[in-house]
Amino acid sequence: MTGADFAFIAQFLKDRSGLIITQDKMYLLETRLTSILRDNNLSSLTALVELLRQPGATKVKDQVVDAMTTNETSFFRDNHPFEALRKSVIPGLIERRAATRNLRIWSAACSTGQEPYSLAMMLKDNFPVLGGWKVEIVATDLSPSVLDRAREGIYSTFEVQRGLPIQMLVRHFDQQEPNWQIKRELRQTITFRALNLLEDFSVLGQFDVVLCRNVLIYFDQPTKTRILGAIARRIVPDGFLLLGGAESVFGLSDAFAGLTELKGVYGHAKQVKAAPTLRPPLPLTAAS
Ligand SMILES: C[S@@+](CC[C@H](N)C(=O)[O-])C[C@H]1O[C@@H](n2cnc3c(N)ncnc32)[C@H](O)[C@@H]1O
Repeated sequence: MTGADFAFIAQFLKDRSGLIITQDKMYLLETRLTSILRDNNLSSLTALVELLRQPGATKVKDQVVDAMTTNETSFFRDNHPFEALRKSVIPGLIERRAATRNLRIWSAACSTGQEPYSLAMMLKDNFPVLGGWKVEIVATDLSPSVLDRAREGIYSTFEVQRGLPIQMLVRHFDQQEPNWQIKRELRQTITFRALNLLEDFSVLGQFDVVLCRNVLIYFDQPTKTRILGAIARRIVPDGFLLLGGAESVFGLSDAFAGLTELKGVYGHAKQVKAAPTLRPPLPLTAAS
């Protein structure tokens, strides 16, 4: 691959998805794009670059972004964010939303669906009271192919063995030799849709909880800052943001502050300063 081809594809990926790809990842680029060359009858990466320069060519452009994004995920990934939700965040919200009985949660880079399904299982198993509430789980991702998989909710034995307690497997999945499928009623509790975090997402409305986990790590600093700012506007005043284990708002956003007792859980900075712990529950009215 020539330096010019690499530079073009790197800029293309940054513009389209936010993904930063450095020279030392050239081998990765070459390996991952090989099947796209075959699929599109292209003889070389230079020919692919020529195609990417054309207006249109949507399919191949999507394929390139898809091939380069990392979709690694698992059920109850890292566990502690789900424990924080189960033990503190959700009970507090149930108390504060008792009048409206409305809860909105967004999984902002949901990959193949394990994150939103983990949430849905955790809510169903621990909070029967929510049966009488309007609970919306919106799950979005840039990649149409991972969203197709997420909607199907079909996972291999290997995937269900990563992080999923056996009792949950039995309760929430149907066996579909050799795989497992999330039961229809649970699949129906989640709305999956394509969404690029680089674009305006105000159309989604506001949420009580946003999980934006293990995606900001792939972006540069200005992009992280911009996305965190836009997410802050999507979270209600007493709502929460959960980031991945290697991510933080530090040096990126003044909008959020971490909750003292819950690692990786953030609230609006003004709200957290006023009530830095979850007990007693955060006040309903926002600090302006
Ligand atoms: C590593 S996965 C994280 C999945 C899950 N949140 C977790 O923590 O296990 C990152 C996901 O971010 C998605 N992604 C990458 N760039 C994106 C963008 N600009 N907008 C929305 N999603 C994006 C990828 O398609 C991928 O599925």
